[in-house]
Amino acid sequence: MEQLTQVLATALSEMNDISSIHDLEQFKSRYVGKQGAITAFMQQLKNLAPEERKAFGAEVNQIKSQFEDALNKQREIILTRELNAKLANETIDVSLPGRGMSAGSLHPVTLALKRLTDIFAQLGFSVADGPEIETDYYNFKALNIPDNHPARAMQDTFYTESGNVLRTHTSPIQVRYAETRTPPIKIIAPGRVYRVDMDATHSPMFHQMELLWIEKNISFANLKAIISEFMRKFFEDDNLQVRFRASFFPFTEPSAEVDIFFAKTGKWLEVGGCGMVHPKVLNYMNISADEYTGFAFGFGIDRLAMLRYGVTDLRLMFENDIDFLTQFKGL
Ligand code: PHE
Repeated sequence: MEQLTQVLATALSEMNDISSIHDLEQFKSRYVGKQGAITAFMQQLKNLAPEERKAFGAEVNQIKSQFEDALNKQREIILTRELNAKLANETIDVSLPGRGMSAGSLHPVTLALKRLTDIFAQLGFSVADGPEIETDYYNFKALNIPDNHPARAMQDTFYTESGNVLRTHTSPIQVRYAETRTPPIKIIAPGRVYRVDMDATHSPMFHQMELLWIEKNISFANLKAIISEFMRKFFEDDNLQVRFRASFFPFTEPSAEVDIFFAKTGKWLEVGGCGMVHPKVLNYMNISADEYTGFAFGFGIDRLAMLRYGVTDLRLMFENDIDFLTQFKGL
């Protein structure tokens, strides 16, 4: 009988440390299962004398039911603990602020375009526009690029079935704007342009901005001053080096390529083309080449946006990946 009480005491103290239902069931069979420690006492009954059997049997049953009561209590404790843990885990704090709808951000090309328009507005330029599907006349002919002229091969053109083109540059807007107006003409013309081209630095669609200033006595010095001033403003660097490299465009004479010195890489980068409006183009504009001169400048808006915001692959600009775009928030 003493052993029996001892077994119960050990069992009860072990039971306190059990924290899962699974462990508790295993623990239970160690005591009251077929080979259990308490069951073993029951099996001893048959070895006892009949007069001892009754008292001992009652004692074993009593111990067994104490054990089972304690077991049930422990089961309740474990279940309650598990339920509480689950509830705590799944709690919804209704006082938390909502996720809300965060405001979007402007596309880097839009950001660059806004800056450009602001800067040129300060320099006295207004904004002109033109169609993206352009006639051969405005995209080529009126810019002194006649049929079969080798200069047409400079730009791989998308043609429509009706014989029009997706404009290959913003220069056609020059003629469209100027042909019905008299100088002074002082415009910028931003827009999408299209060329058959695709790699890390070329996209079949990209953005250009055209600059046109026609007035009496406009010279190459004005061209250099305006372009240099604009580049320094755009990159917020008063000492930015701007270089004009002699070049050729059918619609300007003389012509130059514009390079800027990019300190980050220590390299000169080509950012656009420019030149004095060709007398033949002034003619197409119905402007007297004897009375007026002018300059034009065309450059890639995406290219400038990439330099300013440190984007290295042009394709990122047009994939509209949300992780990419949100980086321009607040700029
Ligand atoms: N239209 C030319 C191009 O896309 C750039 C340019 C514009 C050159 C104006 C001279 C003057 O390559």
